[in-house]
Amino acid sequence: MDFSTVVRTTGAVREFLDEPVPDSELHTILDHARFAPSGGNRQGWRVLVVRDPDIRRQLRDLYQVSWREYVAHVAEGKVPFAPGPDRRWHGPAVDLDAARASEAPNPFGDGLDTAPALLIVAVDLTQLAVIDNGLDRQSIVGGGSIYPFCHNIMLSARDRGYGGVMTTAICREEEAVRELLGIPDPWAVAALIALGRPVKQPTRLRRDPVEDFTVVDRFDGTAFEA
Ligand SMILES: Cc1cc2nc3c(=O)[nH]c(=O)nc-3n(C[C@H](O)[C@H](O)[C@H](O)COP(=O)(O)O)c2cc1C
Repeated sequence: MDFSTVVRTTGAVREFLDEPVPDSELHTILDHARFAPSGGNRQGWRVLVVRDPDIRRQLRDLYQVSWREYVAHVAEGKVPFAPGPDRRWHGPAVDLDAARASEAPNPFGDGLDTAPALLIVAVDLTQLAVIDNGLDRQSIVGGGSIYPFCHNIMLSARDRGYGGVMTTAICREEEAVRELLGIPDPWAVAALIALGRPVKQPTRLRRDPVEDFTVVDRFDGTAFEA
């Protein structure tokens, strides 16, 4: 598959055919993903290929808890866990206990334990050069040393005819995930990635055009046009 097709069609896939992802394919996907950049090339990632059915079920249940919190925000018209206009987070915008106790239908989450391949991506926090630590705002830079790797997994999977979705909802339940999977300090949970053969491959992703987000010289500059 050519690069532009891969990059333009790697959309979120949440429904999979009942077909395994062979270990050899998963290995190749990870072998491509490892060429991702990271700050100082520290490559502070570790991938857990989760096979055990009981662990998978527990991950599914933890994911669903986080999902309910997410959905409760969306139902209130809020961006879940987003910082405010002062660039800082001021706590949840909804009652999280009520959210966790509520129903939030989610076929993907319900079937997470049966996803053909299930990966947890952990990151060693001590290997992240978080250059914006200490600024008077939400930190963002650290993620740049792990999410390119995660997206490379998605791109490589797409290139090989697989699909999936990188998810972060479960990160809210990080302590429980770490205990379940034996992830020690100073590691954090960056993502849960589900992969498989897509029931339906997205081909036209809804994304804003370049002119909508690219400007010349200044933030309020004229739109960049070729
Ligand atoms: C940082 C990040 C976190 C995400 N977390 C979740 C998640 O927890 N659950 C989920 O179903 N999708 C998650 N997604 C997938 C996004 O919802 C998806 O990429 C986006 O809606 C675009 O969908 P599309 O590719 O189908 O257009 C996440 C994506 C990113 C980049």
